[in-house]
Amino acid sequence: MRVVATPADYDELYTQWQGKTVALVPTMGALHEGHMALIRYARQLADVAVVSIFVNPLQFGPTEDLSRYPRPLEQDLGICRELGVDAVFTPSVDTLYPAGMANVTTVVPPENLTEHFCGEFRPGHFTGVATVVLKLFNLLRPSVAVFGEKDAQQLMVIRKMTRDLHVPVTIVPYPTVREESGLALSSRNRYLQTEAEQQAARCLYRILNRIREQVQASEQRLDAKTTLESISRQVLGEVAHPDVTVCLQYLEAVDKNTFAPVQILGPDSKILIAAYVNQVRLIDNLDLG
Ligand code: PAF
Repeated sequence: MRVVATPADYDELYTQWQGKTVALVPTMGALHEGHMALIRYARQLADVAVVSIFVNPLQFGPTEDLSRYPRPLEQDLGICRELGVDAVFTPSVDTLYPAGMANVTTVVPPENLTEHFCGEFRPGHFTGVATVVLKLFNLLRPSVAVFGEKDAQQLMVIRKMTRDLHVPVTIVPYPTVREESGLALSSRNRYLQTEAEQQAARCLYRILNRIREQVQASEQRLDAKTTLESISRQVLGEVAHPDVTVCLQYLEAVDKNTFAPVQILGPDSKILIAAYVNQVRLIDNLDLG
């Protein structure tokens, strides 16, 4: 496995590959089983598998966890090696933003995709994501790139960006990988320090799953607002613990194809959730069909 940090070193490798197809898994490192599943899948999609590891400052807000975001590089490289990755791209901030970030050209996704959900609470986040992903596509020239469905809004934004800007890459989604408890794997799960926090974090999936069960069992059409409110109240009551504050940031039902809000829950609905468990922000989503 080759580890390259500059575009010039990657170009040399790319030339050696002589036209082989490249599957890219863009990551911010702190790799877990979820990433590992994306990487295994990427290996089946092209001749060569490339992982990028870059904690992108442009997608973090001023009060977010950029400086304390985990960066276990040696461990990540070991995982990539074990999985048979051909190359890992580990650029520095200066390499990807040589003129700094203040006046850099950015990719601004359309407002209708970013004004709600994570975009509402993380202003500028999706501009940061779309910009760095386009940079990675231009530098690494993959024919396919794999993204997890856990970050549903990110996936939507990236698909739209590649279509709108005619980027010659196929975006391949991969299903959310979960712990046995249902908790979606995330690099931020490692911030859940106590058993009580870990238990409470499971409420995200429990809410989603209970909504799905209720819709599937019901013979009537269920109103989205009433159902989401009553189930979330019920589950938050069940996980209540004196040392843990669970604060829902959003819980919304949308059409899974357009992300437009829905009033009645049905098989085409997707439920999106974000919550703080003490200081740790977690997101998840589930299709009802
Ligand atoms: O999902 C992530 O890890 C990041 O948002 C991504 C896509 C690697 C861009 O920095």
